[in-house]
Amino acid sequence: MDIVRHTDRNLALELVRVTEAAALAASRWMGLGKKNEADGAAVEAMRKAFDTVAIDGTVVIGEGEMDEAPMLFIGEKVGAGGPAMDIAVDPLEGTTLTAKGGPNAMAVVALAEHGNFLHAPDIYMEKIAVGGGLPDGVVGLEEAVGKNLRELAKARKCEVRDLVACILDRDRHKELVAKTREAGARIMLISDGDVAGVIATAQAQSGVDIYMGSGGAPEGVLAAAALRCIGGQMQGRLMFEDEKQISRAREMGVMDPNHVYTVSEMARGDVVFAATGVTSGAMLRGVRWFGKGATTHSMVMRSKSGTVRYVEAHHNFATKTWVQV
Ligand code: FBP
Repeated sequence: MDIVRHTDRNLALELVRVTEAAALAASRWMGLGKKNEADGAAVEAMRKAFDTVAIDGTVVIGEGEMDEAPMLFIGEKVGAGGPAMDIAVDPLEGTTLTAKGGPNAMAVVALAEHGNFLHAPDIYMEKIAVGGGLPDGVVGLEEAVGKNLRELAKARKCEVRDLVACILDRDRHKELVAKTREAGARIMLISDGDVAGVIATAQAQSGVDIYMGSGGAPEGVLAAAALRCIGGQMQGRLMFEDEKQISRAREMGVMDPNHVYTVSEMARGDVVFAATGVTSGAMLRGVRWFGKGATTHSMVMRSKSGTVRYVEAHHNFATKTWVQV
């Protein structure tokens, strides 16, 4: 079944409205040191914006379980009615980035027909990703860091020292960082935001060749949805801490806890991905406010067509009086 047959291509643009709404709301909290308030504003705005989208949506990657999240919780129904779609949301990817005014915070949504996203629990996922146009399996989670970097350099016809690896700056990545340096590659340590980190591998202008390390599993599925659209390889393995997490994941359909997921196992079928910048980064410009208006910068892409669109929107709140910002 195909998204076009059910709705039309405008759905992609409808999704941008949803990420724009979340980004506008979150951006009001930029640098104010209040990450929960920023996140709450994004969630509320995104939830409202979904009310106008012509889908019968179910949140499968969301803000948590019903009892811990008032809105956009896993299982919540969203949309104005239409074809059955599964939704993966991260209304504010980079809550701390927003609270500190750091780069690359964004509002993110992905959509696919029912049953096409991995129902990843809110635990860590080990991730490795490279951009498109490389031989299948050029890097892998089962391989040593040095070998992955050498294989990538060989495929890119360059030297390992030409490569840049993007890694979250965390104590748990000390060994990964040491092995990357030992192999001779350069590193871009980021403080947060690994969805953008993974997408960067697929964008030549970012200067990032490979993403490695662990981050949120929900963010892993969103990043995989983006790579389905823009091209690129990624592997993810869920990192369980105890039996309770394993049995919870089993209930969500994860049968083999050690399984290494590929991009298409995390995001199948016809996928639409949209993101709007909250703060500026290499991928998107952040929200800019002026008087009674604001500009937003978004990207929206679709796996079926491979189209990547950048949307710069000028919002005029003098006329759009129904929007509370
Ligand atoms: P939040 O927006 O929820 O703060 O997540 C930001 C983030 O950096 C993600 O991009 C990443 O997957 C995750 O946090 C990493 O988790 P941790 O901060 O626990 O290392």
